Amino acid sequence: MIWNTGRIFNILFWEVSLDKLIIKGGNRLTGTVEISGAKNAALPLMAASLLAAGEHALHRIPDLKDITTMGAMLADFGAVYAFDKNSVSLDCSSITHHEAPYERVSTMRASVLVLGPLVARLGKAKVSLPGGCAIGARPINLHLMGLEKMGATIELESGYVLAEARKLKGASIYFDTPTVTGTENIMMAATLAEGTTLIENAAREPEIVDLANALISMGARITGAGESIIEIDGVSSLKPLDYTIIPDRIEAGTFMTIAGITNGDITLRNCISEHLDAVINKLADSGITVDPVEGGLRAIGPSQLNPVNTRTMPYPGFPTDMQAQFMALMSVAVGTSVISEKIFENRFMHVAELRRMGADITTEDGTATVRGVRTLTGAPLMATDLRASASLIVAALRAEGETEIHRIYHLDRGYEHIEEKLAKIGADIRRERE
Ligand code: EPZ
Repeated sequence: MIWNTGRIFNILFWEVSLDKLIIKGGNRLTGTVEISGAKNAALPLMAASLLAAGEHALHRIPDLKDITTMGAMLADFGAVYAFDKNSVSLDCSSITHHEAPYERVSTMRASVLVLGPLVARLGKAKVSLPGGCAIGARPINLHLMGLEKMGATIELESGYVLAEARKLKGASIYFDTPTVTGTENIMMAATLAEGTTLIENAAREPEIVDLANALISMGARITGAGESIIEIDGVSSLKPLDYTIIPDRIEAGTFMTIAGITNGDITLRNCISEHLDAVINKLADSGITVDPVEGGLRAIGPSQLNPVNTRTMPYPGFPTDMQAQFMALMSVAVGTSVISEKIFENRFMHVAELRRMGADITTEDGTATVRGVRTLTGAPLMATDLRASASLIVAALRAEGETEIHRIYHLDRGYEHIEEKLAKIGADIRRERE
């Protein structure tokens, strides 16, 4: 019981450790920023370690709450987990438990990524249904459909998914909509299935390619990752992985919008421009120049921003994870922009907060009309989800006066040491305990 209580306390502590950021806007940000490893590459890769006994090593892992949560969950299953200087070691020799409880899954939806690997390794998994979240219902029906097609029996019981399969079988699986973690779950499960699995209408994000490359380094046989059809030939076993993950394209895109809104000049070390084509295209339309430099990119903001329309789409389209940040940028463009959110049904939580700073934004049926204003003014704000928090920072760095952003535990899920990185390039920013 103590163990359970301790675990719940740990979750509660993280959720209620209410820090806030205080930002004084108006500075021009210039200098160099090191982009961290991609959270959305790290999480599936940590789950993939369940597929092979032995000691795995993952490098360039960002120091984020979601990483801690995933590590703790893998430890619950019997893995030995350690995090040190942005490297994770995971010894998955003895995986004896197969339940991902509600109190963990409810703090991180990506927990669903243990489903496929657990069924492939142990033949069973009991994972709490993630439930909705701030940005939408976010069902996992496609994950479950895929596992069922591979021969798993799926039962839903008091908020949990019970999945069992003596041995998964290769199957042809078509996704009605490209799902990132759905593609990752099925790809991982298929590596140890009997026969060949085809995933059609697969998600094409760079994080999918990174996962496939890591699985191939473990001995998996995968072709087509990054395209809409992925083929996986099952093998009998895999070996531990030693892998360095890709940089975080969304963090890089966020810093580019910051260069744009502060009329700044920021060099981003360790980022891959091919992962950001759609974002760079839209930022260039707004007047921001983005040039390749040794090992990264340099973003220079204009004295005034042009309005730009965009819509979020599955990769290689404009990423939904950049929509909020881009809207903050457009809120001070000279003209009107139209931004449509096509991936999630409720990803405009940042709009009300931006309006409190003086932004002129109206929304209807997933489309936002952003009429640029000359100035934003600092205000007390509330973060609601990870990327909405980032958009509030983008706006606050431009706003006149002081902005307080509360509940930044949302931000700590996806941005490693962001206030330090911003202070280093000239931002007037500090973190305080509520
Ligand atoms: C991943 O979430 C990312 N998370 C999200 O990043 C990102 O916003 C999202 O992909 C879209 O790019 C991780 O990779 C850990 P989806 P995921 O399944 O996999 C519908 C962040 O900020 N769908 O690609 O949960 C779903 O409702 C996070 O880091 C089903 O209908 O997203 C959505 O409309 C936020 N049934 C669409 O597909 C399913 O079974 C795309 O969702 C699965 C998804």
